[in-house]
Amino acid sequence: MSAQTPYEILGEDGVKALANAFYEAMDRLPQAAEVRAMHAENLDEIKRKLATYLTGWMGGPPVYLAINGTVCLTDPHAPYRIGPKERDQWLLCMDQALEDIGASEELKEMLKVPMFRVADTVRNAEESEPKPRDPNIIAVG
Ligand code: HEM
Repeated sequence: MSAQTPYEILGEDGVKALANAFYEAMDRLPQAAEVRAMHAENLDEIKRKLATYLTGWMGGPPVYLAINGTVCLTDPHAPYRIGPKERDQWLLCMDQALEDIGASEELKEMLKVPMFRVADTVRNAEESEPKPRDPNIIAVG
């Protein structure tokens, strides 16, 4: 028997619950305040979009692809500066969400590396803040 996909483990309702729990965690965790501030006040629509995305990404029907014609996340994230700090806040919310829906250790382990990879792919900046420039720096030596 072949291994189950995350979508098979969670099912349609489980993926929706994960996306809801994800944004609920983002909404309440003080450590995720910066990424929360990037989002609209009302999180209903983004919860639905994330569930749609994760469905295909986890091996279920490619619904996000069918709606958007692509699964590329670069364009929707281009308006935001996403550095390592924002990536890690996003991942923290995902860890919390997996905890909150009672995901098994097996599922958490299965998602660990791919979740980091997708979040790091969305990252579009080396640093979270622009580096301060010192106009007095001169070339020496
Ligand atoms: C790495 C840190 C990330 C940050 C800071 C971030 C932030 C955001 C923000 C601010 C939006 C726009 C929200 C809005 O329209 O109100 C967005 C949209 C979205 N994000 Fe992320 N995101 C991150 C990573 C990810 C990852 C890893 C995924 C998928 C696994 C993802 C999936 C989505 C989707 C599906 C949308 C909606 C795109 C659309 O309009 O079709 N994001 N994200």
